[in-house]
Amino acid sequence: ESEYSLRPQTLKQYIGQEKVKHNLEIFIEAAKLREETLDHVLLYGPPGLGKTTLANIIAVEMGVHIRTTSGPAIERPGDLAAVLTALEPGDVLFIDEIHRLPRTVEEVLYPAMEDFCLDIVIGKGPSARSVRLDLPPFTLVGATTRAGALSAPLRDRFGVLSRLEYYDVNQLSHIVERTADVFTIEIEASAAHEIGRRSRGTPRIANRLLRRVRDFAQVRGNGIITFEITQTALELLQVDKLGLDHIDHKLLLGIIDKFRGGPVGLETVAATIGEEAHTIEDVYEPYLLQIGFLQRTPRGRIATSLAYEHFQREAPKQ
Ligand code: ADE
Repeated sequence: ESEYSLRPQTLKQYIGQEKVKHNLEIFIEAAKLREETLDHVLLYGPPGLGKTTLANIIAVEMGVHIRTTSGPAIERPGDLAAVLTALEPGDVLFIDEIHRLPRTVEEVLYPAMEDFCLDIVIGKGPSARSVRLDLPPFTLVGATTRAGALSAPLRDRFGVLSRLEYYDVNQLSHIVERTADVFTIEIEASAAHEIGRRSRGTPRIANRLLRRVRDFAQVRGNGIITFEITQTALELLQVDKLGLDHIDHKLLLGIIDKFRGGPVGLETVAATIGEEAHTIEDVYEPYLLQIGFLQRTPRGRIATSLAYEHFQREAPKQ
């Protein structure tokens, strides 16, 4: 839906990620003063924290256009060549999920990033020759949930590496209030705070919960989002006091009940609860690690005593 209009357009409107924002502000201003393109930027961190939003903001702040694509969408070197040759000087090229670029495509990207040129091979066999094509200068903004999955040569070609962090409750309730404002939804401060508290540090989740709670307020109440309606709605949505959802529960309780708290390998947990190992690793685990409910060890995942307490279960003796 109108997710786009809801996104902040400038760094000033963007809430949180103060360090990342402050650094970008300086790099953007310096590039503009020198009338150069901004150096290539890699944004990494868990999903839903605002990587795409920041990429768009970078383009707005630089006063250029943005072209958006993703790692899996670029299958062959020719696909990348088509995108690169269509850029205008100074443009931002945003590649989401950049860790999923095929290796053959990555190799075309290196000279493009470093020297703004494209080496293409014409012909086949003994008569094949390489032609060098100049590209307009551009800024590559890459986004990934796993910086570790990027090849070292690709990672090394980014001049700016920015890691996005989970948001705190105040920042999230601020974001909820801003979103409510954009949609002219009336919400009590305590309700915005409660949604912020239960959003797993993630604006995308906060905004989604806000929309669902609004549905309850509209149907069950008078449209105003009160603290009571928020609590009722979140309970019906199976979002617990800490913001953990049905899948977080399956994951933790799976480790606790079926593997006596672990250690248990990721693939085994995934098979047991019927979720993709990658989804668990990229989407669910980072937050559970952050709040100390889960530990990663060389022998597998462990549910901590905090997790046992949360579920009111007795931790096994060491
Ligand atoms: N909406 C989603 N994320 C946001 C952020 N970080 N700042 C402001 N509005 C947002």
